[in-house]
Amino acid sequence: MVALLWLAFVGPETCRPCHPAQYSSQYASHHARALRPIGETPVGDLLREKALAERSGIEFGYAPEPAGLSVRIKRGQREISTLLEWAFGAGAQAVTPVGRYRGRWYEHRISWYEAPRQAARTIGHPADPSATPEQALGLPQSAETIFRCFHCHATGVREGPDLSAMRPGVTCERCHGPGSDHAAQPSRTNIRGLSRLPARESVQMCAECHRAPIAPSAAPEVNDPVSIRFQPVSLLASRCFQRSGALSCVTCHDPHQDARHDPSFYTPKCRACHSSAQATKRCPRAPDQDCVPCHMERRSPLPFLTFTDHRIRVLGARR
Ligand code: HEC
Ligand code: HEC
Ligand code: HEC
Ligand code: HEC
Ligand code: HEC
Ligand code: HEC
Ligand code: HEC
Repeated sequence: MVALLWLAFVGPETCRPCHPAQYSSQYASHHARALRPIGETPVGDLLREKALAERSGIEFGYAPEPAGLSVRIKRGQREISTLLEWAFGAGAQAVTPVGRYRGRWYEHRISWYEAPRQAARTIGHPADPSATPEQALGLPQSAETIFRCFHCHATGVREGPDLSAMRPGVTCERCHGPGSDHAAQPSRTNIRGLSRLPARESVQMCAECHRAPIAPSAAPEVNDPVSIRFQPVSLLASRCFQRSGALSCVTCHDPHQDARHDPSFYTPKCRACHSSAQATKRCPRAPDQDCVPCHMERRSPLPFLTFTDHRIRVLGARR
């Protein structure tokens, strides 16, 4: 995207009067809260509920401050402190604090996990107890990596990362493109309309963040249990997608809303392609019941995180 366009982000409040329905559901969604200033979240209070320590003698202490959440990390006489500024993750499953220490970006070693309602080591961080307060602060991240974190969790992030024009969260213009021209003179030609995309392109749009398969290799990525968290990787490998050529993420999800948790919501979507008569013939098991619990199982490939298998299929365990 050229630099000029970056200047043309106007923010979701500008879209609101003309698109009130999309605004009101999107505003309340996990997309819109995928990144927040940490002070606007309950994370500080949650991390302070119980004293946190590591076996190596490391102790963590947190205190709210106007600009974020201060963290003090102590081992014996050595102590460091810094400011955690950003909360990554809306809290549907987890929240990871991010901040800077001596000019470097850090992903904090402690995250909040919603399912067990507890603080624990951030996924991907070393299991060994931290030897120094610096190690306990977390993993230093390069500018390039941290740019990518912000770019997937927010709108209007420039390389650097330059956060001066950023709006935290995945909001309207992250998907539809900068909207200043459109808001001034509404037309279909000056905003990225996404409802007429062919299925594969539509999936690709979501896959910019939810992740497309990496280039084919000897061991297909879809067979890795952890890839269940990358819904496009799974969906693209399903026969429903491959044989219909018409299935995309928005067949089942309103992109302006969170995922619906009621299995009965999805059954008519399946039936649109697997009509009652056909489903009865092909599905010898329970074609009169909701399909998703049997054909899109929920699994936890990582501690505390649960995902839904988007490679719609018949699983051995349910045969
Ligand atoms: C700019 C990156 C980005 C794009 C593009 C994107 N998503 Fe997301 N999506 C996220 C992030 C980040 C989360 C996690 C939010 C959180 O922290 O809970 C998420 C979460 C979700 C959720 C789960 C919400 C819930 O119930 O908790 C759904 C469903 C979803 N996205 C669907 C889509 C669909 C469909 C598309 C394409 C139309 C799409 N996303 C495009 C970044 C993106
Ligand atoms: C390619 C886009 C992308 C990048 C880069 C990215 N995220 Fe995310 N992140 C997502 C999406 C999509 C989700 C929701 C689904 C999931 O969990 O994979 C998510 C979810 C999360 C969650 C909620 C827990 C969870 O896994 O659902 C946290 C916390 C998080 N990201 C932090 C980070 C941090 C910190 C970085 C940088 C080190 C980062 N993310 C980089 C796209 C991205
Ligand atoms: C002053 C009213 C107004 C504002 C402000 C406005 N829109 Fe629109 N928008 C419209 C109208 C009217 C249409 C239908 C245009 C048509 O059909 O010719 C439209 C159409 C759209 C479409 C569908 C495009 C398509 O190809 O079908 C999208 C997406 C959209 N707007 C997004 C946005 C976003 C995002 C914002 C905020 C950045 C925004 N709009 C601000 C009035 C507005
Ligand atoms: C995660 C990406 C994403 C975000 C964020 C997002 N949209 Fe959309 N939007 C889409 C997709 C995809 C479609 C097409 C949906 C479909 O085909 O069913 C769409 C469709 C629309 C349409 C056209 C409706 C129609 O039925 O043709 C409008 C208007 C719109 N969005 C406005 C907004 C506004 C306003 C916001 C912010 C409040 C917003 N969108 C945020 C992805 C997004
Ligand atoms: C856009 C159309 C479409 C939708 C929506 C759809 N499917 Fe399918 N599905 C297909 C097609 C086409 C096939 C391949 C049929 C064949 O091979 O003869 C298929 C295959 C399947 C299979 C066999 C998969 C395998 O690997 O053997 C199952 C099970 C299935 N669908 C269940 C579902 C369920 C459950 C839903 C809803 C969650 C659903 N489908 C939604 C089109 C669709
Ligand atoms: C055939 C229907 C269907 C399609 C197509 C579909 N989803 Fe889902 N999705 C579901 C169901 C069912 C759930 C689980 C909802 C629940 O019970 O919480 C879900 C949950 C999710 C979640 C929450 C995390 C998880 O894994 O449970 C995300 C994120 C998500 N979908 C993204 C996507 C994306 C991105 C696409 C396109 C690649 C997509 N979905 C296509 C049915 C679908
Ligand atoms: C109680 C679990 C259960 C429910 C509910 C269920 N199915 Fe099935 N389905 C199965 C099993 C198990 C098989 C494989 C049977 C076999 O191969 O012996 C199957 C097979 C299928 C197949 C054929 C797959 C192939 O290999 O050709 C389709 C299509 C299908 N189901 C669609 C559906 C749809 C659509 C729904 C909802 C309307 C549904 N199923 C509800 C368990 C279930």
